[in-house]
Amino acid sequence: MAFSERVSRLKSSLIREILAAAQRPEVMSFAGGLPAEAMLPKVEWADMPLALGQYGMSEGEPALREALAAQARALGLECEASQVLVVSGSQQTLDLAAKLYIDKGTEILLEAPTYLAALQIFQLFGADCLTVPQESDGPNLAQLRERLEQHRPAFIYLIPTFQNPSAVRHSEAKRAAVAALLDEFGVTLIEDEPYRELTFDGGSAKPIAGRLKKSSWIYTGTVSKTLLPGLRVGYLIASKDLFPHLLKLKQSADLHTNRIGQWQALQWIGTEKYQRHLSELRGFYRQRRDAFQAALEMHFSDLAHWNMPQGGLFFWLKLKQPLDTRTLLNEALANDVAFMPGEPFFPEPDNHHGHLRLNFSHIDPARLDEGLKRLAAVVRRAQLEKAA
Ligand SMILES: Cc1ncc(COP(=O)(O)O)c(C=O)c1O
Repeated sequence: MAFSERVSRLKSSLIREILAAAQRPEVMSFAGGLPAEAMLPKVEWADMPLALGQYGMSEGEPALREALAAQARALGLECEASQVLVVSGSQQTLDLAAKLYIDKGTEILLEAPTYLAALQIFQLFGADCLTVPQESDGPNLAQLRERLEQHRPAFIYLIPTFQNPSAVRHSEAKRAAVAALLDEFGVTLIEDEPYRELTFDGGSAKPIAGRLKKSSWIYTGTVSKTLLPGLRVGYLIASKDLFPHLLKLKQSADLHTNRIGQWQALQWIGTEKYQRHLSELRGFYRQRRDAFQAALEMHFSDLAHWNMPQGGLFFWLKLKQPLDTRTLLNEALANDVAFMPGEPFFPEPDNHHGHLRLNFSHIDPARLDEGLKRLAAVVRRAQLEKAA
């Protein structure tokens, strides 16, 4: 069949396939990045105006744009409501940014590892993905400078707060240094922050976009990890030079984000009810994180290294004896355990064997211990076979 040239680069998302396999109720899943069912807030629809069934503005609902701009300013990101575009989940920001910047062979810069579905969309449009290694406090600065000296990437894509998959939070010093480097080399920043509010130690660092003095930027967030992912409401805030282009791309993609979800999001953003919900969420996930850490110590301390995440939804394990963790999937699923292999989070998966991304928010605590025990047994068996 005659499809577009770019479709030949469309990779299926491994995570969607694993999640499909993990649908069986007996499967203990560490694979997704889902909120815990118990923490999905009870939402009310009774007061929603019927007029919201009509077409809306491409920019998004004015009151929601105002509320999102106020929220961003409180974080230290100077902006006006006119720079806010409501999108269909922050995933759409990545799609619009890819359309704005990427032709076949366009160089872009990413942290390694980085968010799988960002890689998928950037590669679909034909990006040539350059990487900077992620360290425990953010990107390696010497290598970042080297890449910027040797290349002219169209943009850099960063997830500075509780990254998916590595859970890394960029330090103050690295945020400042990254912003200075991007200004020095005139490189556009795409900053993706779905996990910012899920902080367990109360830390909250100013976005990198808010530190830029010259470079263009797109900052994106979502209600998916704090309210309901099914609403499909996210937002982008862009520097004034980029906004009109992103707005036109949004119009041509889907006219506007669903108004019903936007109305629901507006019932929460900026309210005390939302603050209370966030603090319950942090407490709940912190407990799950702690229980997960204890279970990991029991079952994985001889097998892997990891840092305890201070926020977000994931543990990122590095096996002491690397092996291609994709080869563990079938055996894990046969034992009713699902997890996310680390390799696909790198643009060159075969150079990065030996990581596992484990979600700690979703698993029923009663099954946590058994799930990790079975997963550790799968790893141990594979390592014995490899050694044999
Ligand atoms: C880093 C990152 N960006 C974007 C998204 C997409 O989120 P949304 O539901 O807002 O489209 C996710 C979801 O897991 C994510 O981890």
